[in-house]
Amino acid sequence: MTDLSGSIAEQRLSLCAVLGEDLVLTNSEDMLQYCRDWHGDVTSGAIAVIRPRSTEDVQAAVKACRDLGLKIVPQGGNTGLVLGGIPDDPERQVVLSLERMNRIRNIDSDDFSAVVDAGCVLAELKDAIAEKGMFFPLALGAQGSCRIGGNVSTNAGGINVLRYGMTRELVLGLEVVLPDGSVFDGLSTLRKDNRGLDLKQLFIGAEGTLGIITAVSVKLTPYPDNVATALLALNSLDDAITLYRRARRDCCDLMSAFEFMPPLAFTLAREAMPDLQIPLSGDYPAYVLMEISGSGLVDIDDLMHRFLEGVMADELVVDGTIATSQAQARNLWLIREGMNEGQAKRGAHMRTDISVSLSQLAAFVVDAEAAVSEALPDCISVSYGHVGDGNVHLNVLPPNGATIEERHERIYKAKKVVNVVVDKYNGSISAEHGIGRLKREDFEERLSDTKRGLLVAIKKALDPDLLLNPHCQIDLGADIR
Ligand code: FAD
Ligand code: LAC
Ligand code: ZN
Repeated sequence: MTDLSGSIAEQRLSLCAVLGEDLVLTNSEDMLQYCRDWHGDVTSGAIAVIRPRSTEDVQAAVKACRDLGLKIVPQGGNTGLVLGGIPDDPERQVVLSLERMNRIRNIDSDDFSAVVDAGCVLAELKDAIAEKGMFFPLALGAQGSCRIGGNVSTNAGGINVLRYGMTRELVLGLEVVLPDGSVFDGLSTLRKDNRGLDLKQLFIGAEGTLGIITAVSVKLTPYPDNVATALLALNSLDDAITLYRRARRDCCDLMSAFEFMPPLAFTLAREAMPDLQIPLSGDYPAYVLMEISGSGLVDIDDLMHRFLEGVMADELVVDGTIATSQAQARNLWLIREGMNEGQAKRGAHMRTDISVSLSQLAAFVVDAEAAVSEALPDCISVSYGHVGDGNVHLNVLPPNGATIEERHERIYKAKKVVNVVVDKYNGSISAEHGIGRLKREDFEERLSDTKRGLLVAIKKALDPDLLLNPHCQIDLGADIR
């Protein structure tokens, strides 16, 4: 390996000299949190972590890195699950964290829109918007840490997609620093604008490979102050899908969440939060966490009660509980959110983020879980997720006590086994988390020549020197040379 230590030290000094010490971290301990993924599965390093305070600072950082031949990995809250936001080449890459760019520029309750810096934490943004009687519908378990620029860059999904759409559908405009250092000023709040190509779409879901998003304008709705939340027990995932179809018809467009969980959810959530209240017996094969919500004159409680009366009379739902306070509703959501933390506590495991068509979801889960148990009899499959979007997280947990090598071996095998079933169902290996570096190989294996050609052409046009997030989504090195 080439000894780059001298030049690394020089590069660090140069970055500090050009950008000022306030913007640049170079100490390994300080940089650790920016170089390790949320699960702690992968720890990397970086030449530096740059923390700009303004769009102009981001422009200066792009110029400095370009001059020094360094590559930039943009980062928001570092909650991404596919290793797109942490470096994979510590000797050539810097992290550019948006965390200090967290100003809410404007919330407009007449226009139902907000303009915010890309580094705003999603939960803080939602709270500030709620204070003005408005609602920003993007909701996910990581919302206390993820940042809106990261949400846009991954086109995040979450629990409210079935009603409000993915992040893409909530974005009105973007401000982006491009790899050549110029600013794409597309921060409009117009609802309709057909003046040529909608260029902001290029950056939504690009995972930091085409530009650094510095500000976002988003679409808001009135705050849904009437919310009914129910945890329901069912006999199967098939029944959960039947229930979902019925809820779509019976609850107009007011259903805002419909999440599927296996009984293991309760155990996993308790492992993460030992004091968590579990208000239903864990003896049923399947559970649904359902939410109906609305604002204004609509009677949501009545709707939920009438809906549940019907589906219980038909024995589609066999047991259930409706939250009677916000605290109880929050507690029900903690069960769903605790599943991720519970799995993290069990150590390295295989995570997926699959979508298939809704009508094939139950059959897919049965097939994929059967394939896993045949290939890996000592592992447990945990399938849960956003039923309404046909999106399931079919995860595979190696046995407790497995060494890290044994875990990696099982994770690798499980991924291959599950992906074969995904392909059989014409599904997607990334419904909401993105490709990052973790799924690059699997993504590239499935890319048609035409799609690859288009992706290369776009990257070449915007970032010919591969300044931004190299090796993320696809490895373009060979195509560009
Ligand atoms: P980061 O992890 O920092 O970055 C993600 C990607 O975006 C990286 O490629 C990075 O380079 C790029 N990026 C970040 N900021 C910018 C920017 N300003 N400009 C350009 N590129 C940028 N995801 C879902 O979709 N649905 C869920 O329900 C969901 N639940 C989760 C629950 C938990 C407990 C956890 C840990 C994660 C969950 N995620 C979920 C994944 C993750 O939270 C989302 O992908 C989120 O949108 C990432 O935001 P972030 O700010 O943390 O981005
Ligand atoms: C969730 C994440 C893993 O739905 O996407 O919990
Ligand atoms: Zn999810």
